[in-house]
Amino acid sequence: MKNLYAIYISISLLILIGCQDNDSGRTPFILAGSEYQSFEVICDRDTVLISKEGIRVKIEANTFDCTKSRMIQLSFAAALTKADMIRNKLYTIDDKGNFLESGGMFQLQDKTNNTETFKKLIEIEIPTNTANSMMSKYIAQEENGVLVWKNTESAIELANTQNLQNGKALFMQYCTSCHNPTLRYDMTGPALGNVHLFRDSTWLLEFTRNSVDLIEAGDTLALCLLSAWSHAHMTSFEQLSDQEIKNIYEFIANESRVQGIAEEEVKYLTTCDNVGQIRSELRNPILTNSTNSYQYITILSDRNWVNIDHLLFTEDANQIDPIVLKLDKPYEQMNIVMVFEDRNIVIPFVPTAENQEVYKLFYSESKSKINFPLGEKVDIVAYNAGADFEYTILKDYQPNKTDNNLTLSLNKKGKTKFLKAIEGL
Ligand code: HEC
Repeated sequence: MKNLYAIYISISLLILIGCQDNDSGRTPFILAGSEYQSFEVICDRDTVLISKEGIRVKIEANTFDCTKSRMIQLSFAAALTKADMIRNKLYTIDDKGNFLESGGMFQLQDKTNNTETFKKLIEIEIPTNTANSMMSKYIAQEENGVLVWKNTESAIELANTQNLQNGKALFMQYCTSCHNPTLRYDMTGPALGNVHLFRDSTWLLEFTRNSVDLIEAGDTLALCLLSAWSHAHMTSFEQLSDQEIKNIYEFIANESRVQGIAEEEVKYLTTCDNVGQIRSELRNPILTNSTNSYQYITILSDRNWVNIDHLLFTEDANQIDPIVLKLDKPYEQMNIVMVFEDRNIVIPFVPTAENQEVYKLFYSESKSKINFPLGEKVDIVAYNAGADFEYTILKDYQPNKTDNNLTLSLNKKGKTKFLKAIEGL
């Protein structure tokens, strides 16, 4: 333990901001490379820990065994982003080989007593900027050296979603008669997925309230849309307040992330892109106060890794030829993963039994076809954690129905550069 800052906010409640502490001990559930944060807490007091990721851990007095000492050492590790998962060798695959999409993984351990099960339930609050109501709780189990996730069938509670709920209700009530609720396809009006990324927030407010006013004032974008959409006027919504309209776009933004709609998928860039409205500086989100403002809440009862996750929809999945990677030569400490570009999904590759230089996705080694949501783009990250730390990142691969054979050669060096490169995925 290097630093420990304690702020007393009441006599019985402590908030601790932890520091990083590298842990070298290993059990199946203490992973190599995991970035454990250490906390010292007073055993018989209610305590709230805040991890460096902003995760809040609410521990009631006497959750841990106080017989040995009054102060106990806790260690906490979490992986919220794709980069965190790659560094810690945590993946988003369930015990049947299905792809999961993670809302965050974490683990809490009582180092003083080394107990497996806690005496009281601990509430955990994980910050998220995507509120996905389909998430449920998974726990880890080890299979051939890989942690896979088992669904506990317990739902995750979502907090701070009042505006979102309101926006959803208004969208359903007023907009879906003309705009497709999937946000992906055109109807009477255009698809609205990711519209907040392509239109100025003030413009969205004004256009939604009264598009006819904008058209009459000669707004070039409104005029362009009108002629692109067969001169059908959109209904005016004078009755909606600014906040209500913002809530609708907060819902559209969140739903676009939940549905994994890629930025280039909805064609704002090809309709009315000649009027100069689509510029990067216009990407000023209408949702200034909603970044990271939601929380997933769950309960922890033991020291196992927990994952807030949901099964990726397979409705529009296709049977495709497995993705087969061939390395240009043998490498010693190879790690290869596939990460989805628009979703928190990280799937490991494993060597095939026949040829150690040929890799297939974990669980698909013996399959002739795999389920894959076509249209998704992935990045393939391969690294050799040996002395030179060589790596390569293949960007933007879109799997085909047939023939997904790729050859990989590692051509960059240095762990620091690698860690920086995966942050951007
Ligand atoms: C009666 C059908 C109708 C309803 C109801 C409707 N819209 Fe529209 N909307 C349109 C049409 C048609 C257009 C194309 C532009 C035009 O004709 O002015 C459009 C365009 C838009 C655009 C511009 C898209 C772009 O490319 O910039 C946004 C944003 C939008 N609508 C949001 C909404 C919202 C939010 C609601 C609900 C509060 C809503 N619309 C309700 C028909 C409708």
